[in-house]
Amino acid sequence: MDKMEIIELEQEKPKPEFNFKTARTSGRMIFETNNLVIGYTSPLSKPIEFRLERNQKIAITGANGLGKTTLIKSLLGIIKPISGFVTKGEFLEVGYFEQEIKDANHNTCIEEVWQDFPSLDQRDIRTMLAKCGLTTKHIESKVMVLSGGEQAKVRLCKLMNKPTNVLILDEPTNHLDIYAKDELKRALKEYKGTVLLICHEPEFYEDFVDHIIDCKQWSNKI
Ligand SMILES: Nc1ncnc2c1ncn2[C@@H]1O[C@H](COP(=O)(O)OP(=O)(O)OP(=O)(O)O)[C@@H](O)[C@H]1O
Ligand SMILES: [Mg+2]
Repeated sequence: MDKMEIIELEQEKPKPEFNFKTARTSGRMIFETNNLVIGYTSPLSKPIEFRLERNQKIAITGANGLGKTTLIKSLLGIIKPISGFVTKGEFLEVGYFEQEIKDANHNTCIEEVWQDFPSLDQRDIRTMLAKCGLTTKHIESKVMVLSGGEQAKVRLCKLMNKPTNVLILDEPTNHLDIYAKDELKRALKEYKGTVLLICHEPEFYEDFVDHIIDCKQWSNKI
């Protein structure tokens, strides 16, 4: 009887296995900024000189609302700078994990992942999702009914199966349970590309990053 209960519990909580696929090597410079001032209508920052090089792993930290997400979106060209420039390197294959996805997603998890990998068959998609720690019930559910942690696993599933050489991760650990967090940490340590990570948890990143940038050094809000 004891044994049966253990088996059942393990089935309910499958352990995730994260492995990020890598693309061809990028150029040496990934992002470089010159006098970059970020913001929407008014400047959020002083001029920022930031350079990210191939294979560096950098964490960006700092209090809420200082402009970490805005910096990342400015580097990616999603938001126009108030002034100054961003230069992007060559042959970048960027994987971007957004902090928040606000729109309700009516796709099932299978549909959500399949649309990014249309040449695979449904069994492959199910296997990919199961490897990310999702149960059959989750996999067949609509993304919008899943918990924050389960939705993060669906997004990580899409991200890690696409070959990349740069990962830009905006608070990826926010909703993850301890098993998923440890596994993500292991996978990022092992990743053979460049990582730019926003995170509020030093115990998550301090083992594998080369630099930590506190955005209070350029924020206008301090
Ligand atoms: N689309 C927008 N239009 C105008 N202002 C915005 C917009 N998005 C964010 N802001 C403002 O810009 C500032 C910086 O926001 P940002 O999301 O970059 O902060 P953050 O450092 O990522 O914070 P957190 O740790 O909470 O994620 C905040 O004051 C925020 O209210
Ligand atoms: Mg943010």
